[in-house]
Amino acid sequence: MAFLLGVDIGTSGTKTVLFDENGNTIASALEEYALYQPNVGWAEQDPEDWWKATYISINKVISKSGVNVDDIKGVGLSGQMHGAVLLDKNANVLRKAIIWCDQRSYLECEQITSTIGKERLIEITANPALTGFTASKILWVKNNEPEIFEKVSKILLPKDYIRYRLTGEFATEVSDASGMQLMDIPKRKWSDEVLEKLGIERSMLGDLYESFEISGKVNKEAAKITGLKEGTCVAGGAGDQAAGAIGNGIVKAGVISSTIGTSGVVFAFSENITIDPLGRVHTFCHAVPDTWHVMGVTQGAGLSLKWFRDNFCIEEKRTGELMKIDPYILMDQEAEKVNPGCEGLIYLPYLMGERTPHLDPKAKGVFFGLSAKHEKPDFIRSVMEGVVYSLKDCLEIIKDMGVDVTEVRASGGGGKSKLWRQMQADVFGTNIATISSSEGPALGVALLAGVGTGVYKNVAEACDAVIKVKTVQNPDMKLNQKYNKYYDMYKRLYNSLKKDFADLSNIIE
Ligand code: XUL
Repeated sequence: MAFLLGVDIGTSGTKTVLFDENGNTIASALEEYALYQPNVGWAEQDPEDWWKATYISINKVISKSGVNVDDIKGVGLSGQMHGAVLLDKNANVLRKAIIWCDQRSYLECEQITSTIGKERLIEITANPALTGFTASKILWVKNNEPEIFEKVSKILLPKDYIRYRLTGEFATEVSDASGMQLMDIPKRKWSDEVLEKLGIERSMLGDLYESFEISGKVNKEAAKITGLKEGTCVAGGAGDQAAGAIGNGIVKAGVISSTIGTSGVVFAFSENITIDPLGRVHTFCHAVPDTWHVMGVTQGAGLSLKWFRDNFCIEEKRTGELMKIDPYILMDQEAEKVNPGCEGLIYLPYLMGERTPHLDPKAKGVFFGLSAKHEKPDFIRSVMEGVVYSLKDCLEIIKDMGVDVTEVRASGGGGKSKLWRQMQADVFGTNIATISSSEGPALGVALLAGVGTGVYKNVAEACDAVIKVKTVQNPDMKLNQKYNKYYDMYKRLYNSLKKDFADLSNIIE
């Protein structure tokens, strides 16, 4: 029996999972780390924390599983997308990584658009300039920390930094590299034109692979610290969203996923390049060769509920610890008692600005419609509903682009909540399915590593072999009508507040 290891370098922690070739989880381990927010709208992490979490979790998984490391055929890497890891000529990290949800680089987005031209930028990179993407983060460092930028020798994405620590190779793959905004997306290669216009050397970037290809092998030093066998193959892997999509079987038209992780993503497969002319959803290379995907991203999905839990649910956290259950289960139980619509309490999840559909780094979180009758459970439920409304924003744009939606598969930490899945069914007015494995990104990259090492013939065959639908929840269409009224109000609120968000940002600055 062959075994495959998936490592997902997420925002709240790194999860490592060992699978057998049938996709069964043999052992898993999660190591958490800090998120630094030195200013409002800024978000940074220490790449050394990711590495530490990676080798500790791999070690734990190997010892828990009892599997002989000779039988681990390959390692796949998944990671939070867009973060900029800057290395000097000796491969030392120059500063904390500016990560995906950081919003500081809006002036650099204007610079990118005017330097390349709005239309040409979309023609090459398939997307408008966004604070979320890596290019504007790199330019921010260039403009604001020139003493650091002049020392930059390599620029890597989070999971690609881990690849370097595991194999010594500077490499990336098309799905994650798409989110750097330095690639020619139709041609699936680095864009010389974009690099030249932004003053970024080609040599600073890693070698570009397709996601299933083997990018390197675990070296002696990494073998010693992780417990893996020296020479184990490391596949390209994928950005966490494409990885999660593979792990949910989103490899053909019609089946889309709705993921609630720290961010929230609605993801659709596409055989051709489809671009939203307004740039509200991203078009990137998929981790399946010669295919692409579109995805809508909401910045503060699981992040919103985690923020609420950490600041206002101390009791649930304590009780959860005593009862040895996840505090989110207790929060679900409270939210379940509240009427759908929360008697008019509406939450806008813009704690870290918003991408789809507003592309507004200055947007802020809001509770609207508060009355003296509202209690904590109403807040919990309205946070959950607000996140689902933001996912509906993504879904509606994807549908308007002509993408066929026959089945929605829920995934991510939030996809584990039956209540949150039912809300999605009711708000979207579609069935919501779950699949047999909930390991999304880690499973996806383990399958890619399996394709790269010949365990499976191709990605579609790998998905067919291991991914099965487990549950289906149907929408309550009467509730859907009720939710539609609240959703209309939710959409109006952003438009009413747009100018106030911008004015508030000026006061904070
Ligand atoms: C996708 C995105 C996030 C991060 C973190 O564009 O920014 O989903 O990958 O999960």
